[in-house]
Amino acid sequence: MAILCPSTAIYHLLFSSLLLFFSCYVSAIPVYGAEEGKDGFHSTPVSSLLPKNKCSASARGGSQGLPITQKYGPCSGSGHSQPPSPQEIFGRDESRVSFINSKFNQYAPENLKDHTPNNKLFDEDGNFLVDVAFGTPPQKFTLILDTGSSITWTQCKPCVRCLKASRRHFDPSASLTYSLGSCIPSTVGNTYNMTYGDKSTSVGNYGCDTMTLEHSDVFPKFQFGCGRNNEGDFGSGADGMLGLGQGQLSTVSQTASKFKKVFSYCLPEEDSIGSLLFGEKATSQSSSLKFTSLVNGPGTSGLEESGYYFVKLLDISVGNKRLNIPSSVFASPGTIIDSGTVITRLPQRAYSALKAAFKKAMAKYPLSNGRRKKGDILDTCYNLSGRKDVLLPEIVLHFGEGADVRLNGKRVIWGNDASRLCLAFAGNSELTIIGNRQQVSLTVLYDIQGGRIGFGGNGCSK
Ligand SMILES: *[C@@H]1O[C@H](CO)[C@@H](O)[C@H](O)[C@H]1NC(C)=O
Ligand SMILES: *[C@@H]1O[C@H](CO)[C@@H](O)[C@H](O)[C@H]1NC(C)=O
Repeated sequence: MAILCPSTAIYHLLFSSLLLFFSCYVSAIPVYGAEEGKDGFHSTPVSSLLPKNKCSASARGGSQGLPITQKYGPCSGSGHSQPPSPQEIFGRDESRVSFINSKFNQYAPENLKDHTPNNKLFDEDGNFLVDVAFGTPPQKFTLILDTGSSITWTQCKPCVRCLKASRRHFDPSASLTYSLGSCIPSTVGNTYNMTYGDKSTSVGNYGCDTMTLEHSDVFPKFQFGCGRNNEGDFGSGADGMLGLGQGQLSTVSQTASKFKKVFSYCLPEEDSIGSLLFGEKATSQSSSLKFTSLVNGPGTSGLEESGYYFVKLLDISVGNKRLNIPSSVFASPGTIIDSGTVITRLPQRAYSALKAAFKKAMAKYPLSNGRRKKGDILDTCYNLSGRKDVLLPEIVLHFGEGADVRLNGKRVIWGNDASRLCLAFAGNSELTIIGNRQQVSLTVLYDIQGGRIGFGGNGCSK
């Protein structure tokens, strides 16, 4: 099913019944209104593109699964003081991206000689939080959801250096089921030392204890990092990471017997609450999703610890027009889906084509004459102040096997101010990274055993 905004969906429903009715009588079928997306444009309230500062989620988003909140959003309840500025967000986003790029550059033929893959490096923080518990009785922690890394860790007592913003530490001595070291595969070793893209670090030991996701989903002897010495900016309100990559210690691997390596998420807008589902709860959404194959990335063996999820992106459309970018542009080193990168990065050639088509489609709107601030990675911005609505071209990501992901609203535009609303994409050297801004409010299902990723839905709350 196509991904439609709710008003469009209703329109289509109405329209299809009308169509059934009319097509019996008239041969010339009326064209869909320009306002309603069928010709590739959506009439979008400008206010809907701006950040919201009040949580509008009534209770929790989905009726099941682990609630997900945006770290700095009003629904996270993390009591952080000040959301980061766009410059800070983009700065971190750039360091995450250059970090991911560097991992792939290791596999470029000219670099293979000089680089031994560094499995100790992990990515920088992400933006979405979930609560899980460790120990017996359970101690609850707020972790950053990260498909770009595999190790799950939280801060432990006693800690030498603790994250300032975090409020909680796992206390092994208060758990009846904690064990240190011996439960860990010998290939892994007892200590872990992770350096993230922004030079944040977490150093500690591995331990095992019961992990509780939901009350019925309890995993004894779950292996996780017990951080004793943590430094850097993992973001306010976070106590650690939930690694959902493809590595050996990933939550996905460790829960495979029950969940068959399937999970899905809906990353919420800042004013709503999403959900993280595992196993059958995730699979039950399959019929409403479009699937594309998971493919192997370059240098797979060295990347196992982070285990990025690679897919095949073939082309992009803007306002119903294919850009006809050769798919080879996206193929080397490839396209990853990442929950932690904010803004989608495209190889320069693809980004230039997207930008040109977007500008053409937005020609009737004035460009923002506000100066681009240092560190701002978005370069195609419009001044929509004083306007109620904007006719936004839909951007479609065409993935392999006919999985078309339709983007509109906040998945197309980023900005804090109506006088400067920007195309929410940026260029990159070679790697394509599908960021979380483009995934917001979509259901994304990772069926690792089935070798596929599904996209669909609209809105996290059901
Ligand atoms: C952790 O790894 C980093 C980078 O490899 C290194 O600089 C640091 O000394 C290590 N720390 C510990 C405590 O092992
Ligand atoms: C946006 O447009 C308004 C007039 O519609 C103008 O007053 C303002 O200076 C413009 N701002 C930017 C950043 O372009």
